[in-house]
Amino acid sequence: MNAIRSLCLAGLLLIVSGLGLSRSHASPQGAPPPNPAPGGAAQESPTAKLTPDDIANGKQIFAAQCAGCHGFDGSGQLGPNLHGVLARRGDAGIFAAVRNGTGAMPPVMSLNDQRVWQVVGFVRTLGDTGPVEAAKGDPEKGKTVYDANGCVVCHAIGMTGGGVGPQLTTIGRSRPPKYFYEFLRDPGKNPPAGYALVRVVSKDGHETTGIRVSEDTFTIVLRDVGGHFYSFDKPKLKTIEPQPGQTVMPSYGNLSATDMDNLVAYLSSLKGAQ
Ligand code: HEC
Ligand code: HEC
Repeated sequence: MNAIRSLCLAGLLLIVSGLGLSRSHASPQGAPPPNPAPGGAAQESPTAKLTPDDIANGKQIFAAQCAGCHGFDGSGQLGPNLHGVLARRGDAGIFAAVRNGTGAMPPVMSLNDQRVWQVVGFVRTLGDTGPVEAAKGDPEKGKTVYDANGCVVCHAIGMTGGGVGPQLTTIGRSRPPKYFYEFLRDPGKNPPAGYALVRVVSKDGHETTGIRVSEDTFTIVLRDVGGHFYSFDKPKLKTIEPQPGQTVMPSYGNLSATDMDNLVAYLSSLKGAQ
């Protein structure tokens, strides 16, 4: 494992699920989350022992390790809103989500159990209220906008659609509405991890631009807009240049406000078959 690989972990997990390959489950790290004691009185959750200092530490850890995806106030950005998650998952469920990962969220490897409990303590303080954002458009009309704008060429929902961009089958579960508004207007500004565009030039002058699928010391694999994969031996390349701010996903900033609201409502409604 090299550093680049681990940096790309989040992206790889997203891509692998996008390609429909089965993804090996990350092995749980550290102690398993505590279960209620079998039969007897419910065991006290480790969060009951947290001091105000622990919660303050948890807040700092959240700002450093979670806010990039969940927002500083926990109201969601690349990842979902966490207000109300305590009621849904309980202490042990939040702990497990952080320790083992959940859905499109990679496990957080860099924290020991004590620090994960501190961050769980902070997530508890978010409570149920707070800024919960609901999509304001009409999802059915949004599907028409989706169909009319060629999204299906690059994105699959269920079994239908292309594979250049990530699958959107359950995107409404993992991204809040405000992410869609920002992303659709300016997709290059903050592409999801793993979709960075890279341009390589071989020593004999051939250029290829594509999404970086994987990279290690000796090879880099790119995928172009057509979905074709290219593997390069690094020693044969003259340059490897990331293209920050560029993406193959077109900007949809020219949609009318109503179309945009409806499209966001449609995307937010995509939560997978249940
Ligand atoms: C790389 C982005 C990313 C980072 C970093 C991240 N998360 Fe997440 N998180 C997500 C995504 C995406 C989901 C939604 C997963 C799904 O259901 O597909 C999620 C889901 C969760 C959930 C479950 C939410 C629910 O409604 O069930 C919890 C709890 C959570 N994250 C807590 C955290 C905490 C605490 C941290 C920091 C220690 C953290 N996350 C770091 C992206 C991230
Ligand atoms: C030419 C191919 C292409 C078309 C057309 C396209 N996309 Fe994308 N889309 C991508 C790629 C590639 C990504 C990955 C991120 C990036 O490159 O910025 C992406 C990312 C996304 C994401 C972010 C997914 C995530 O995990 O955060 C959403 C949402 C999205 N597209 C929705 C749409 C919608 C809605 C349309 C139509 C209005 C559309 N896309 C049209 C290629 C496309």
